Amino acid sequence: MRAILVANWKNYPESLEGAVSLANALSRKKLLYKKLSFFVAPPLPYLDVVGKKIKSFARLAAQDIFPSLGGPYTGSVTPEILKNFGVRLAIVGHSERRAMGETNDTVRKKVKFAMREGITALICIGENARDAEGEHFEFIREQLKSALEGLRRREDIARLAVAYEPVWAVGSKAKGGIEPKDLAEAVIFIRKVLSDIFGRSNAANIPILYGGSVDPENAGQLMRDTGVSGFIVGRASLESSELDQIAKSLTTK
Ligand code: PGA
Repeated sequence: MRAILVANWKNYPESLEGAVSLANALSRKKLLYKKLSFFVAPPLPYLDVVGKKIKSFARLAAQDIFPSLGGPYTGSVTPEILKNFGVRLAIVGHSERRAMGETNDTVRKKVKFAMREGITALICIGENARDAEGEHFEFIREQLKSALEGLRRREDIARLAVAYEPVWAVGSKAKGGIEPKDLAEAVIFIRKVLSDIFGRSNAANIPILYGGSVDPENAGQLMRDTGVSGFIVGRASLESSELDQIAKSLTTK
């Protein structure tokens, strides 16, 4: 399986020109990115322009997905439209959306509707804080079980990926990245929850990514020593030179 890299641009760059120059900078390293399953999740208004720029070495991702198909939903973009623009993966249940009120129930619906349109659902889970007794494992188990409730076996598994993104490690308020040994432990735990739901051999095919303060310094070790299949990267994905270095660590596992 090729390593997976998701560039989550969030609400940046602030201009289309900035987005185009970032996409152009990435395309200078297209041979590197082609060695990965590389996804770029730009702000929605840039989808078309960025999608054309990255076509030869990356696929488009959405930062969120609306939990319905078709219909008059003022202000929302439904999965069909995203699909028509070339979106192949949707980030679902990102902690920044959960902080805006998104519940486990909404996340479950979003997963279902993404899959129905053939879009891979990248389900984000992660605790707000770690707990010496390991209570945070129960929290992520619940998030994951709830998101996966009611999924049928084979077809679903092929369109599923999990991103472990502990909230305390994500974004500019992060308390720093995760220790490799803690990530390795979380990956084993998540794999076990997936095995309980889908069976061991099916679960083995579901990629588990890590996100939260990934940068050129920590990427190599986090990839080598933890069992993750790749990364979702926020801040460092806005600097092409940093993302290039992270991509390189994913190709040299
Ligand atoms: P970060 O964000 O890399 O800036 O911590 C990761 C994410 O939000 O997916």
